Amino acid sequence: MFITLEGIEGSGKSTQIRHMFDFLKKAGLRCAITREPGGTIIGRKIRTILLDPDSTLIEPATELLLYAADRVQHIREVILPLIQAGNVVICDRYFDATLAYQGYARGLDTTFIHTLHHLTCQDLGPDLTILLDLPPDIGLARAWKQLESGRRSGAESRFEKETLTFHERVRAGYLTLAAAEPDRFKIVDASQNEQQVQEHITEVLKADSRLFAGASAQKIRKYA
Ligand code: TMP
Repeated sequence: MFITLEGIEGSGKSTQIRHMFDFLKKAGLRCAITREPGGTIIGRKIRTILLDPDSTLIEPATELLLYAADRVQHIREVILPLIQAGNVVICDRYFDATLAYQGYARGLDTTFIHTLHHLTCQDLGPDLTILLDLPPDIGLARAWKQLESGRRSGAESRFEKETLTFHERVRAGYLTLAAAEPDRFKIVDASQNEQQVQEHITEVLKADSRLFAGASAQKIRKYA
């Protein structure tokens, strides 16, 4: 099974992904954590370019193509092999982030973004997506606290430096995507404290019977 975690800056994805991993492990499932951008050696080089605050001249289309390039590599090198080996794969961001950031927030054509995903990634999509939702002013304040305390590197602050309006568009984009696919998306209120968010996510995971059934096998047949 393929699970993705999405949300704006400061939504607590990294913390919650570790709780998810611990819960699934304890439940006896084989699972693995990965992320975008940067889930492969090549991807980490791409990530450096994408998140560098000095990449100010980057064109929106260049940005889009670099995220797509990172994803192609990630799917082939990491995601599919992990699923094939029987893991529940939990990915910190995936294609919905491209639609929300490069599409809804940056203004690139979402039909083109879907076509690119179809041509380069054969439309591989997650079975379950948990959206950590919170107001961008709260999220950005948290993100900046992490940057200032050194918990997150300033070398990765390009998106934190975007305007509040940009992050409002990202959030609205995510909520639009979630409304369009209510079966796949589960929205969690990320303005709550860490433990409350963790409990809500655990409920979502417990309620998903596919986690303990054969969704991974189906995916392997389709994309192998
Ligand atoms: P993160 O790994 O700390 O979440 O940072 C990744 C940044 O990249 C975040 O600001 C969102 C952005 N992003 C996109 O703009 N498009 C994408 O497709 C992905 C995966 C991430």
